[in-house]
Amino acid sequence: MKSSIATKRIIIGTNNFNKVVDLASSAKIGLPKGQTDTEFLSKIKPGTSFEVQGEKYHILECDTFDYIMYSLKRQTQIVYPKEGSYISMRLDIFPGKRVGEAGTGSGAFTVYLSRLVGPYGRVYTYEQREEFYKLAQKNLGEFSEFDNVIMYNKSINEGIKERDLDAFFLDVRKPWEILEEVKKSLKAGGHLGILVPTTNQVSETLETLEKTGFYIFEVSEIMLRKYKLNPQRLRPEDLMIGHTGYLVFARKLEE
Ligand SMILES: C[S@@+](CC[C@H](N)C(=O)[O-])C[C@H]1O[C@@H](n2cnc3c(N)ncnc32)[C@H](O)[C@@H]1O
Repeated sequence: MKSSIATKRIIIGTNNFNKVVDLASSAKIGLPKGQTDTEFLSKIKPGTSFEVQGEKYHILECDTFDYIMYSLKRQTQIVYPKEGSYISMRLDIFPGKRVGEAGTGSGAFTVYLSRLVGPYGRVYTYEQREEFYKLAQKNLGEFSEFDNVIMYNKSINEGIKERDLDAFFLDVRKPWEILEEVKKSLKAGGHLGILVPTTNQVSETLETLEKTGFYIFEVSEIMLRKYKLNPQRLRPEDLMIGHTGYLVFARKLEE
């Protein structure tokens, strides 16, 4: 059995226990009490429950959120689901779209883009560091559904091959250095999204975007407040993630 989306499951237990497992592997799987194995789990229908040593677990098909948050190997900061889903709406990413991306990093957002653009769309992703390029390749291979991602192990400062792209997403430290290149790769009116962690990066990006001939339409950040799952005492979690990044959105204007 080859590892893919179809072979991934998530096991859910009490006290927030969760574990993504791959039925294509033959490994033993440690649980809070005892262990199980993939041969046993392969026989259990996803969406049902099982018991090991008196403890109950649910087994579900692993979705994109589960894979990115609980399984994908990270060696870089990643685009989290709360930003990723908003970015993809703002960039109008739908099946059939041709989208550019830099840097690939751990490939978290690339995995999501690949699923969104579908079998007839394309994702062209650039990563300058070989170790991250290889990591992202592996992460994509683990959760692939479509053969629609073209990966480059190079800096986009050296140029972007593609032309007439529908959208481009930048998650790099100095996006202002590459806006001219990105502009060449986009179609007229094409969407650009940028994620940066600090406000001074936003300022520098805005100044360069204006000079480069983009129409800037938004700077924003996304805060997500989760709730404790107690219907009788429903209230927010005590702690929340205060900051992940700032988002900048623009459209290419033709001269
Ligand atoms: C924060 S990570 C990207 C994480 C990625 N969006 C994800 O969700 O996993 C930033 C990456 O950009 C890469 N990078 C920075 N400048 C670059 C450039 N000019 N061209 C290509 N990659 C670049 C870095 O090596 C790093 O891996």
